[in-house]
Amino acid sequence: MDYDLILDDEFDALCLDVRDQDIASAKVKYPAKQHARRVVKELDVEHGIIYLPGQPERLLEDSDQPRLFRQRRYFYYLSGANFEDCAVTYEIGHDRLTLWIPYIEPRQVLWFGSKPSAAECLRRYDVDEVRYTTQLNKFFRCYASSPSDRTTYILHPDQAPNLGSGARSHLRLDHSVLQPAMDRARLVKTEYEVAMIRHANNISSAAHRKVAERITRLKNEREIEAIIQAVCIANGTRYQAYPVIAGSGVNGSTLHYNANNASLKGKQCVVLDAGCEWECYASDITRTLPISGCFPPKAAAIHAIVQRMQNECIRQVRPGKLWHEIHLLAASIGMDGLLKLGILKGDTEQVARAGTVAAFFPHGLGHHVGLEVHDVSGSLPLATQGIQLEDGKRVMVTPGMLAQMMHVGDSEDANPVQQRKRQRLLPNMVVTVEPGIYFCREYLEGYFRNDPNHSRFIDWEVLEGYYEVGGVRIEDCILVTRDGFDNLTVAPKGDELLDVINRGRK
Ligand code: GLY
Ligand code: MN
Ligand code: MN
Repeated sequence: MDYDLILDDEFDALCLDVRDQDIASAKVKYPAKQHARRVVKELDVEHGIIYLPGQPERLLEDSDQPRLFRQRRYFYYLSGANFEDCAVTYEIGHDRLTLWIPYIEPRQVLWFGSKPSAAECLRRYDVDEVRYTTQLNKFFRCYASSPSDRTTYILHPDQAPNLGSGARSHLRLDHSVLQPAMDRARLVKTEYEVAMIRHANNISSAAHRKVAERITRLKNEREIEAIIQAVCIANGTRYQAYPVIAGSGVNGSTLHYNANNASLKGKQCVVLDAGCEWECYASDITRTLPISGCFPPKAAAIHAIVQRMQNECIRQVRPGKLWHEIHLLAASIGMDGLLKLGILKGDTEQVARAGTVAAFFPHGLGHHVGLEVHDVSGSLPLATQGIQLEDGKRVMVTPGMLAQMMHVGDSEDANPVQQRKRQRLLPNMVVTVEPGIYFCREYLEGYFRNDPNHSRFIDWEVLEGYYEVGGVRIEDCILVTRDGFDNLTVAPKGDELLDVINRGRK
């Protein structure tokens, strides 16, 4: 493959402002204490302890080789520590955050190297004290025998502190309220978190740009994945936030395609969905590229519709905006576009009421991004303002669901599900806006061809000519600001993307 290693200073895309650079280079500590206080505010209690064990070191099954380490996200949120075998406690009444770290025996260092010492951790992390996990049992035994409120808030029943026989019965364990409280806290990002997500976006944007420069000279989807990985690793991160999707031709119609091993020969487009992690924070970016450097006419028409859907929807992002309304806008622009191309047909009102456009735009418009690529969506109490992006995942949207969405908010006595969908965007949420149009033959013929409610609105002959386009998706990470939005994704798109591709030809 025609590809060389890339040095950091080649990337204009990696210009961060000073503040973000300080954060990204760890001159500013991860705001664990601020996060702990936020969680307690959501818990609405005055006493008790929050206890979160981190990810232990684990081997592959029947092997002496380690699994790829991935820190537990709830633990990380209250500590910022990204190594194995730690725990964190937060004593609510005393506002005391303690990081518990493993003691590393000198002989272990010989094989696996060291972990940060207690002194180093105290310097590095925003915690009040650092202790060794060997003392954790004693700490909880002592707490269990104290006369004060002994509630210990844990995430799941299997994450209770291990005190040995007898002692645990004196602790009052609560595993029902911590996760919802943490999910609500995680929904709105701190400035530090936004800087991490922005940095991940900068690196991945540089990787997308590099693919665009090379695309006309590549032969196979696997070369695209290799470039993405190479640029991210060369810029300091080994982790992708999800498996790279490089789907060419009809593979682009599979939403989570990841075989990435097909030839690019004779294909029109490739859907490239790739985003790395930076310090546990995700990015999520999709571009659809013309493999020859120029979209053939049908692909160009679909790309133009999706680009319009995305531009118009991003413009709608601002505090107070109802998310489902933005989805409906995307669906309506998609429907108009497909009607003009003759893929959809019939009376506009009737096609809209049937929700048939969801056959081609079959997923939610986006999701939150944070410590997970499909980040927590908050499980907000109904009275709270916020957003419910269908459990934070890019979920299936069927015509029936789309039709239902159109009626959210019609009546005052809407049921709780409808009320939840009325929740709104807030400043410092980060969401993706990722409309797409796909021509998945199995899905369309399996569910719509024989359904009289939809089949009559689709011109199956015209559609036949579009299957080879595969799919088009365009996705950016959008920060909700106080008065609008800030697009965190700087990967080239639109005319700029075509320029980059065509300048890259040799
Ligand atoms: N890359 C997964 C998604 O876009 O949701
Ligand atoms: Mn996404
Ligand atoms: Mn994506």
